[in-house]
Amino acid sequence: MSVTVRVPAKVNVQLAVGAARPDGFHPLANVFLAVGLYDEITVTPADELRVTCDGPDADQVPLDGTNLAARAAQALAERYGRSPDVHLHIAKDIPVAGGMAGGSADGAGALVACDALWQTGAPRDELLEICAELGSDVPFSLVGGAALGIGRGEQLTPLEVGGTFHWVFAMARRGLSTPAVFREFDRLGEGTDIPEPVASGELLAALAKGDPDALAAAVSNDLQPAALSLFPELAATLAAGRAAGALTALVSGSGPTTAFLVRDPESAAAVAQALLASGTCRTVRTASGPAPGATVAGR
Ligand code: C5P
Repeated sequence: MSVTVRVPAKVNVQLAVGAARPDGFHPLANVFLAVGLYDEITVTPADELRVTCDGPDADQVPLDGTNLAARAAQALAERYGRSPDVHLHIAKDIPVAGGMAGGSADGAGALVACDALWQTGAPRDELLEICAELGSDVPFSLVGGAALGIGRGEQLTPLEVGGTFHWVFAMARRGLSTPAVFREFDRLGEGTDIPEPVASGELLAALAKGDPDALAAAVSNDLQPAALSLFPELAATLAAGRAAGALTALVSGSGPTTAFLVRDPESAAAVAQALLASGTCRTVRTASGPAPGATVAGR
């Protein structure tokens, strides 16, 4: 008996970041859009908790107790007074350390998979609570679609989306650490007045209408200057995608994956090809959103 759960990647179409709180976290207005690049997490009963991973970036995934999938299984087992003796296998297609919530996806996926395997019947609110303990982006990986996240990004309000948005993603030659990018944000903002983060009305309207031009005009990422400061080569990737006809180009979350909004699948293919030819990235992927959240794909 095993259960497989499919979980999407995300792109942040708006990431507004406020000044660091006393706990070190930053208040966010984080507009998430789930896109159709997926990790699949399969859980099978085993003698003890263990994690394996395959896929193009598998060698970069930690398989110890720090893995969010392992931590999710442990957290759920603890709540229901059972042992977390399962084998978690991650079929990884979401870029690692890329700013696309790959680790968060594995946490949410393992939680849903263990819940189904153990027939815990945990209420959705309880699963979301465990997700929020695992990480700021993990609740969104569970719900998918599009949502506004406030607080650390974990307090979600689902958003209406009136169409499909087409994207190209360029994966960089190395990763970026999210805490390091937030630290650089703090450093760059020292001595300046950082406004409270608020969601953009234009951006929410563009999502609701399904209008790619309006969305392109409204996207923003307050972490982008920090990501570019730590990884200056990303500017060339952004420029290459813009030159190839992308409606807009931005760093995805804390980066270093860069995201290019395009009008349709044909221009996605053209922008993807131009990005590869530019030699400014490791690889490219195309995907559209919104995509559904963590879903049982087989048992
Ligand atoms: O919550 P999560 O574990 O994903 O966060 C990873 C790191 O990102 C945190 O340790 C913190 O450095 C930074 N972070 C932050 N403010 C947030 C979310 C994350 O500073 N709202």
